[in-house]
Amino acid sequence: MALHNNPESSNPYTGKAATVLSYTMMHPGQLRSTQQLIEACHMAKGHLVLDVGCGIGRTACYLAKNFDCRVMGVDLNEELVEEARRRAYKMGLQNRVEFKVANVQNLPLESNIFDATICEAVLAYVPDREAALREMVRVTMPGRYVGLNETTWISRPPSPAVLAFVEDTMAGAQFLLASEARALMEGAGLDNLTLFPSEKTSMLNEMSAGMQSMGLRETLGTLNKMVHAYVTKPALRGTLKRSLMKPSDMMDYVGYFICAGRKPA
Ligand SMILES: C[S@@+](CC[C@H](N)C(=O)[O-])C[C@H]1O[C@@H](n2cnc3c(N)ncnc32)[C@H](O)[C@@H]1O
Repeated sequence: MALHNNPESSNPYTGKAATVLSYTMMHPGQLRSTQQLIEACHMAKGHLVLDVGCGIGRTACYLAKNFDCRVMGVDLNEELVEEARRRAYKMGLQNRVEFKVANVQNLPLESNIFDATICEAVLAYVPDREAALREMVRVTMPGRYVGLNETTWISRPPSPAVLAFVEDTMAGAQFLLASEARALMEGAGLDNLTLFPSEKTSMLNEMSAGMQSMGLRETLGTLNKMVHAYVTKPALRGTLKRSLMKPSDMMDYVGYFICAGRKPA
């Protein structure tokens, strides 16, 4: 798969389809992988957490609601940040969750302030991953954890259908490998590393886990938003349709890993 020289121009999340796409994609492992990340980062009640590449704010709001954390979510895409703010407001979490437009490679945030910094399914779109890790480590308090829940190839080469899907609907995505994550973490000076891969799952399991983690109300709301986008935005119809037509063998090749490390005290 080609790595685009200017991934920001090919990043599907910076385009007009971003908000619509964000309804169809949550990271592999759904809520379960997020919970594994939370554990790997030793998060506790009341922590101040940074979620980089927060998308529509699902994890940020989950942390605020279920762990009583205060959360800052940052994302490159303004529309997604707006959607995340709406979500926090609807859930009554606006006093505990804040969202900002920002690039993980150059965070407009002070050093040494977060109890944990997390990143889920983002680094495939980031051109300078060393800079991203450096920034995540910089803003984290000494003695606290930085964690990744990243989409990866669990088997290669992927089937032609999966490769075509990833190239078509996730243009520019270059999945990080677990070995690369370990090197990045070590290169950024983190210690006490934990790294573990996902279990293999199926498309059906992923979809039902996704719906379970969203709950009935949000699942119906999401379907409603997709239908609305389909009807009112003819230009996005093709993208939306193609994004929903995930190959049935997708999860034979695509999974995730969790990798977390501590910033030395
Ligand atoms: C696959 S989505 C994941 C969203 C969310 N973390 C989740 O797991 O549901 C990737 C997100 O990364 C964001 N992103 C991509 N490059 C970024 C960058 N350089 N800085 C900040 N966010 C970025 C995109 O806008 C998008 O919201």
